Amino acid sequence: MASKNTRTFSYGTTGDISTEECPGFELEESFRSILGITVPHETMPITSKKPPLPSSDKRWRIVAGTMRRHGFAREALIETLHTVQEYFGYLDKPSLKFVAASLRVPLSQAYGVATFYHFFTLKPPGKHTCLVCLGTACYIKGAGQLLAAAEASLNVKAGETTVDGNVSLVTARCIGSCSMAPAFIFDGETAGNVNETFLRAKLEGWKV
Ligand code: FES
Repeated sequence: MASKNTRTFSYGTTGDISTEECPGFELEESFRSILGITVPHETMPITSKKPPLPSSDKRWRIVAGTMRRHGFAREALIETLHTVQEYFGYLDKPSLKFVAASLRVPLSQAYGVATFYHFFTLKPPGKHTCLVCLGTACYIKGAGQLLAAAEASLNVKAGETTVDGNVSLVTARCIGSCSMAPAFIFDGETAGNVNETFLRAKLEGWKV
């Protein structure tokens, strides 16, 4: 019997939360194998006690602040994960565990959200980031060919990071700079009217 402050979530047909309320349930097995996480298969205790911050890193206070603003409600899961990614660049195992425990949601649900939405990433970004806009205006102006050139130059596909961890190549639908199409964002700085010569020079300059 669970104590007053402790709830026990059963993976299966019993427990306070049904599998219907937990869309990440079915994906849990694959997440665990991919990320090497050991989650007891039968039960996972969910307590109302707030877990300690993962480290003294001040960014965790900002993450905690997001949850506090929402009264640690489960509905704050996506926004909290957004905050983690904004400040840490990606979602790793400790951060997902921390957020799940703080919001009292099953860990499998946090993984489900983190892997369902394309704007979340579980891999650390490279030292540099090259974002190619593939929105309509940019695509018409040749963004597709430029992306192919970037992939060839970096020897990665969109969404990947070079093996040396130096550059991440990512894409977006529109970055709000259509008048400068084709537009890129290099390490947070927008560049417009990008041509292949400029792109290759930029990527070359990042090589270590
Ligand atoms: S379509 Fe590329 S900036 Fe809008």
